Amino acid sequence: MQLKSGTQHWGSAAKFFHWTIVLLILVQGTVGLIMVDMPKRPAVIPWYNFHKSVGLTILALAVLRLLWRAFDQRPAEPPDMPHWQALGARAGHALLYVLLFLVPLSGWWFDSVSSLRPLYWFGLIHVPPLGGPDPSLPDLKEVARGRHEFLFWTLVVVASGHALMALVHQFVHRNNVLGRMWPASLQPRPKPVPLPEISHAPDPAPAVSAPAVSAPVDPNQRDGA
Ligand code: HEM
Ligand code: HEM
Repeated sequence: MQLKSGTQHWGSAAKFFHWTIVLLILVQGTVGLIMVDMPKRPAVIPWYNFHKSVGLTILALAVLRLLWRAFDQRPAEPPDMPHWQALGARAGHALLYVLLFLVPLSGWWFDSVSSLRPLYWFGLIHVPPLGGPDPSLPDLKEVARGRHEFLFWTLVVVASGHALMALVHQFVHRNNVLGRMWPASLQPRPKPVPLPEISHAPDPAPAVSAPAVSAPVDPNQRDGA
């Protein structure tokens, strides 16, 4: 298991960040969509607190991921990939990074301007607000809510296109683009090569008899003596 990426593979740190963030975004989006449709009673508060805490965790992971990326190498594009496609993939990845920041930041901003309860990360660490409500901008809360929702759906569209391209590369172009990002523990194991059968029957008698052992030579004996 290699922590750093190479010219042909992603390292375990890059894979960890990628798949942990994907998983958390799936949980986060689902919880977000469920909680906004729940009746506004005290029972909904733990859902909101959970959503905000997971969202802040995604933001922290995105920061760490980008810092790690500054020190890590990026594997080369597959040799069969046309230049325009490589440029498109890079632009798509850059957009995903921007959204990984903007979606949680917009949620944090919405929470700050709606002046609800103080924000705590899993009830442990107090998180300061990003500004506050502005009396001269009565619509600010609605604007922030709209931005958070819009950015979330933009992320869904861009990430779906990105995942589709990864699948096309893997299964149509067969250039292992998904395989090299796939966690090592989930990689398919290579089929074991069958070993030649070992026979337990006794060895057949040698066809040629072994040469006779020569008589010991007395080093003191002279030739012909
Ligand atoms: C990647 C991270 C995040 C994702 C994917 C996400 C996703 C969502 C989604 C899908 C909704 C429902 C939108 C709707 O249909 O109205 C939502 C609502 C909400 N999010 Fe997030 N969110 C994230 C981060 C955050 C963060 C960090 C906070 C606050 C610290 C936050 C606070 C909220 C709040 C308060 C709502 C409720 C809005 C309302 O009452 O209408 N979110 N989020
Ligand atoms: C919320 C969902 C997702 C986000 C935010 C996301 C984000 C990213 C980002 C930013 C990169 C570029 C990494 C870098 O250059 O440092 C990347 C690479 C990659 N992603 Fe995703 N991703 C998501 C979902 C998926 C899914 C579902 C798949 C697979 C079906 C996938 C497959 C890949 C692959 C194969 C690469 C490496 C591409 C290459 O080697 O050029 N991603 N992803």
